[in-house]
Amino acid sequence: MHKPASTHFPLIEPIRNRWSSVIFDEKPIEAEKIGSLFEAARWAASSFNDQPWSYIVATKAQPDVYNKLLSCLMEANQVWAKKADLLAVAVANLTSTRTGKTNRHAQHDVGQANANLVLQATALGLASHQMGGFSPDRARELFEIPAGYEPLTMLAIGYPGETKSAAADLQSRDSSTRSRRPLTDWVFTGTWGTSSSLVE
Ligand SMILES: Cc1cc2nc3c(=O)[nH]c(=O)nc-3n(C[C@H](O)[C@H](O)[C@H](O)COP(=O)(O)O)c2cc1C
Repeated sequence: MHKPASTHFPLIEPIRNRWSSVIFDEKPIEAEKIGSLFEAARWAASSFNDQPWSYIVATKAQPDVYNKLLSCLMEANQVWAKKADLLAVAVANLTSTRTGKTNRHAQHDVGQANANLVLQATALGLASHQMGGFSPDRARELFEIPAGYEPLTMLAIGYPGETKSAAADLQSRDSSTRSRRPLTDWVFTGTWGTSSSLVE
């Protein structure tokens, strides 16, 4: 399945082609590609270069950790995520390493790292899906995540699966149209709610 964004302005290819698939192939991801995924996350921008991200990761080749990660997901996500070769939980360090106080950009910066990661995945021909539907408490307990660190999202990454061999409900989810609010709904100028002509 290929679901490129239908855009008003041109985009670079990984942004155009990334989407959240629910049909994965169990085929292992090459080690070099997995390295590149986290290299991409590593080079995300962050406030004061604090790099507040950590990931707990496993492939199907590490079944103990993989199954623990899978067990953190809501059942509705497990159904399809269990086919993806790589599962990860993204964790934010909520404390600034510079000031020792709350880093109010921590979640933002972990989101940037995740965005880099999934765009790199797309560029490598991999499917990806970020998930908020998981138990942070279970992740905290199973992986002994210390206080001050927040499990934010989980990610499923893998080779795209064969649409025809997937369950009917997953096929229909995968084939659903992607949509976005128009740019003029949220790019403002002057006062709140006034569309900018720059994006017309
Ligand atoms: C932080 C976050 C949490 C999400 N949680 C879930 C989830 O628990 N289950 C799911 O199926 N999709 C989840 N998604 C995927 C979104 O539904 C998806 O990104 C959105 O519908 C846009 O579709 P697209 O990614 O294909 O463009 C999540 C995405 C993000 C960024």
